[in-house]
Amino acid sequence: MNEVVRPGPETPPQSIVAPQLSVIVPTFNERDNVTTLYRRLEATFAGIAWEVVFVDDNSPDGTWDVVRGLARMDHRVRCIRRIGRRGLSGACIEGILAASAPYAAVIDADLQHDETQLPKMLALLQGGEFDLVVGSRYIEGGSADSFDKQRAGASQLATEVAKRVLKVKIADPMSGFFMIRRDRFEQLAPQLSTQGFKILLDIVATARGELRVKEVPFTFGTRIHGESKLDSMVALDFLGLVLAKLTHDVVSLRFLMFAMVGTLGLIVHLTTLFVAHKVLDVPFAEAQAAGALVAMTSNFILNNFLTYRDQRLKGFGILWGLLLFYLVCGVGLVANVGVAFSVYDQEWNWWVAGAAGALMGVVWNYAMSGLLVWRKR
Ligand code: GDD
Ligand code: MN
Repeated sequence: MNEVVRPGPETPPQSIVAPQLSVIVPTFNERDNVTTLYRRLEATFAGIAWEVVFVDDNSPDGTWDVVRGLARMDHRVRCIRRIGRRGLSGACIEGILAASAPYAAVIDADLQHDETQLPKMLALLQGGEFDLVVGSRYIEGGSADSFDKQRAGASQLATEVAKRVLKVKIADPMSGFFMIRRDRFEQLAPQLSTQGFKILLDIVATARGELRVKEVPFTFGTRIHGESKLDSMVALDFLGLVLAKLTHDVVSLRFLMFAMVGTLGLIVHLTTLFVAHKVLDVPFAEAQAAGALVAMTSNFILNNFLTYRDQRLKGFGILWGLLLFYLVCGVGLVANVGVAFSVYDQEWNWWVAGAAGALMGVVWNYAMSGLLVWRKR
């Protein structure tokens, strides 16, 4: 009874109904939610060929292990366990690219999104009239009542900024619940940022009005198990994304963050210089050196927490990284002064020369830090 046929060299591969829809679920510490979500998906998709790809960033609570258990019982379930990486957007991108159904949906694991909308969203895409269907909280019939005042305000502000500055036309570009044609996504994917939370906004802004979008209302539910991973850093992520899209991706989000941290570093440097030289009477040269050292250290810490938080150095790696960072910045300073001098020599204004040097310095530091300090493992 129920004999399992193992495909050997003599048995042709079993044919499996190709899925129409791939559901992508980014997870981080969601072990108590994934089984319920899987059951709900199964109940929702009667008569639809579907699959689900969980993309887990090596959750400490072992979410990936629970998903593996589901995958062993049902071949429609897959798990991508990513090591050494963090980030909601990157996880979604990787999940969609790992799938092959003509349509891909993204849904949170924590049951705050309404999976019963998915068949309707799929039908809309299959109709051929649209490329993207968005689960929206901010159109009639939708709501986000579970938000506290602060979160609601932040969400509204970000939505307003996205609409005005990036000319995004949809009501809820901050939603994390949507379905897209995979071929369209595949075209946009190389330009999307893997950092941050705002995958839908990124998709819509990058497409620059070329996606035919439909919004369907849904009610954003309350989280029962686990907690939200959104923190105050998302505000910076958001700002970086807006700036990157405004400059037509000439400058990447990461570079902008690196430059923002560098600007803060200048303030740290000048403050240290002032305290050391003016308050503690340290001679200028030593005070200047102290300022540089403190600024480099604080820049390193901030970059490790912010700019490269998806590849954050930990433990002993921090010390090694810091030493490399000093080295990179030291050479960057030489490059900075060198360029500034040569521009100055050609009888430009002092400030043009200074700015050219500073630009050289930050570009060098950025390129070399990415190559040596926070290199992709
Ligand atoms: N793989 C991976 N890596 N998944 C992550 C990460 C990560 O670094 N961070 C969060 N997730 C997963 C969570 O496990 C969850 O399934 C989903 O992404 C959403 O994360 P939450 O932490 O629950 O976010 P939220 O509820 O506060 O925010 C949601 O609503 C926002 C709209 O207000 C998300 O859907 C946001 O994308 C959305 O903008
Ligand atoms: Mn959530």
